[in-house]
Amino acid sequence: MSFISKCDATVIHSAAQALGAGHLIAFPTETVYGLGADATNPDAVKRIYEVKGRPEDHPLIVHIASLDQMDQWAIDIPEFAIKLARDFWPGPMTLVLRRSAKAKDFITAGQETVALRVPAHPIALALLKEFNEGIAAPSANRFGSVSPTTAEAVEEELGKYLSADDLILDGGQCLVGVESTIIDCTKATPFILRPGAVSAAMIEESTGLIALASSDKNIRVSGSLDSHYSPQAKVVLDAIAEPGDGLIAPDQIPTPDGVIRLASPSSIEGYARDLYAALRLADTKNLEVVVVLQPGGDGLAEAIRDRLARSAYGN
Ligand code: TXA
Ligand code: MG
Repeated sequence: MSFISKCDATVIHSAAQALGAGHLIAFPTETVYGLGADATNPDAVKRIYEVKGRPEDHPLIVHIASLDQMDQWAIDIPEFAIKLARDFWPGPMTLVLRRSAKAKDFITAGQETVALRVPAHPIALALLKEFNEGIAAPSANRFGSVSPTTAEAVEEELGKYLSADDLILDGGQCLVGVESTIIDCTKATPFILRPGAVSAAMIEESTGLIALASSDKNIRVSGSLDSHYSPQAKVVLDAIAEPGDGLIAPDQIPTPDGVIRLASPSSIEGYARDLYAALRLADTKNLEVVVVLQPGGDGLAEAIRDRLARSAYGN
């Protein structure tokens, strides 16, 4: 049995009703697929943790339909956060703000802050508009593993943990491919908790403020654990691939004899878009080692290197 469903207005309508009834809906965003639940329903949100196998002290992002819904979930929103929301929503950016009474402990894991995002994917936006309530959604993978960028990858990850009324909405391949930039907006200036497609330069240009990377270990971003985003295969960075190894590298790098090429991106955007599918392919092919030649540069390249460092941690 498959949970994957093509999308039209009727499906969006029944998916919104299923959310309201406490079921889980996995849906595409422009970054990666999310595993969604009604952000006001503690039992539904509890199932997200069960299905993901995620520790309960990791908070969730609340997805909203537009920036008009920000002040339902957050208070004391600083001017620079509103500027960022205007400039980059809908888009691959999550803002961490002081929570309102609506953002309960089961969303924030007891923290006084809440993470909000308006995703830029027509299916995600249609679902949010139809549901007209916040949707809590982590990436739709088992805890610690690679985020899914297709509906099939969601089913591979979570199919055996879903229930009959849960659904995976198919929106094809995600265009960005790495998770949103998370920005802590609770201090005088923006702090980047997780790099993504919205870069430090873009944040600075938008706000006129310096955007630093946060080293606050008290902030629980599970994607900031040392080991995360890991396939079964051992990820080795910037090494020479041996016969039988997988290889992910920019297209101008040739494939050595006997090496299994998993991706050949021709741009940074292409690299981000194809990376997670290539790491998954290494597991489908039962490879033991995948060598990854990292991209140089800032912005999205930095987000790619951040994820790769965690995929390779301990190897
Ligand atoms: O692109 C994305 O952000 C995707 C799509 C589905 O929207 N979502 C995503 O969710 O990556 P998740 O749960 O896999 O990663 C969100 C990260 C987690 O590491 C979580 O700990 C952190 O955001 N987070 C959530 N609320 C937070 C908060 N109040 N303060 C700091 N970090 C928070
Ligand atoms: Mg995740």
